[in-house]
Amino acid sequence: MKFRFLLLIAFFTSSVAFSQGNNYVQNYNKFDGLALTPPMGWNSWNKFACNVDEKLIKETADAMVSSGMKQAGYTYINIDDCWHGDRDSLGFIHPDSKRFPSGMKALADYVHSKGLKLGLYSDAGSQTCGGRPGSRGYEFQDALTYASWGIDYLKYDWCNTDGLKAEGAYKTITAALRKAGRPMVLSICEWGTDKPWVWGPSVGHLWRTSGDIFNCFDCIEDHGTWKSWGVMQILDKQDGLRQYAGPGHWNDPDMLEIGNGKLTAGEDRAHFAMWAMLAAPLIAGNDLRNMNQETVEVLTNKDIIAINQDVLGVQGFQYSKLDGFEVWFKPLNHGNWAVSFLNRAGETKKIDFNWQIEKVKDEVFKKELNANSILYKIKNAWTRKSVGTTKNGLKTEVPSHDVLTLILEK
Ligand code: GLA
Repeated sequence: MKFRFLLLIAFFTSSVAFSQGNNYVQNYNKFDGLALTPPMGWNSWNKFACNVDEKLIKETADAMVSSGMKQAGYTYINIDDCWHGDRDSLGFIHPDSKRFPSGMKALADYVHSKGLKLGLYSDAGSQTCGGRPGSRGYEFQDALTYASWGIDYLKYDWCNTDGLKAEGAYKTITAALRKAGRPMVLSICEWGTDKPWVWGPSVGHLWRTSGDIFNCFDCIEDHGTWKSWGVMQILDKQDGLRQYAGPGHWNDPDMLEIGNGKLTAGEDRAHFAMWAMLAAPLIAGNDLRNMNQETVEVLTNKDIIAINQDVLGVQGFQYSKLDGFEVWFKPLNHGNWAVSFLNRAGETKKIDFNWQIEKVKDEVFKKELNANSILYKIKNAWTRKSVGTTKNGLKTEVPSHDVLTLILEK
């Protein structure tokens, strides 16, 4: 009798302990300490769309190293849409076995062996934009799978999401990634529809602010039911968002079109400089295996990258705009500044900029460039040469569809 009573007590205490042990609380906060400066890497979509396979990814990783891009700071090799095969009878997703015969784990091992990181793409809806299986209803299972493969970055798209609320859907994948336990950068690709800059900073590390970029400098491509946007149109869509960005949480104006053959050398420079000024993720979207010298020089320019990667993490702002000529400033660490003179017009523009008279003030982040009391040394970020100080006014020209970027150092 006494023995039975003891057994009963043992049963109750263990079942209480068991139910307490099951009391798991979801964690809807992104992994901390990642993307403290804007992420740098490559993504397959802009150049290759659905034509992705393991050979391309391995060769791209090789090229990222041999071209000097890794050395310049690029880290992530991101496979966008269409890597997917089917789900198995238990619901686990597998890569397309024709395109990725060695499997994702082997590919991640390869990319890691080069000192780089591997990213994947999925979608909050039932299917991806390219019609592959989406993660809706499989979030925790997919996150576990990605973690077991050694994935480091997830771009999570927003096609086929009828009836879903963006904030909840992205929090679900964040909770799934947290439960899986492998730190991953989460790239929210919701196109800015539901103001991801408001709820995104705690949920993901970057969020798209607009629809897709189109490979042109200044045009709109109408696809009928949706539009994609040239480099200048995307730039204009960043207006009013800079207060939401900072270390670990960035506005994402989409991936780069540099080296994809439609922009002139000046336009490539303008695209890269403006993404640097915006503290935007620098995700190259070209064929890294076949780059000309001009493309490599733009993508690996140390001073432009330094502006982008500045640890202060403050997104730049438009200071003035007149007839297609814009002046942008970005506060940097140690009280330094970057400035870009962007010529969007069809003709050369003259600059006559008096540092002492201009009142450059960042009202949001409370910074002021005061060339009256401080003498800044000026460096041309493109030529990497010193070009005097703020004692004298700047008198020069910027060709049509080009940019002049300077760094002002105390
Ligand atoms: C959407 C995204 C793009 C790309 C494609 C893939 O359009 O915005 O960046 O990922 O889907 O299908």
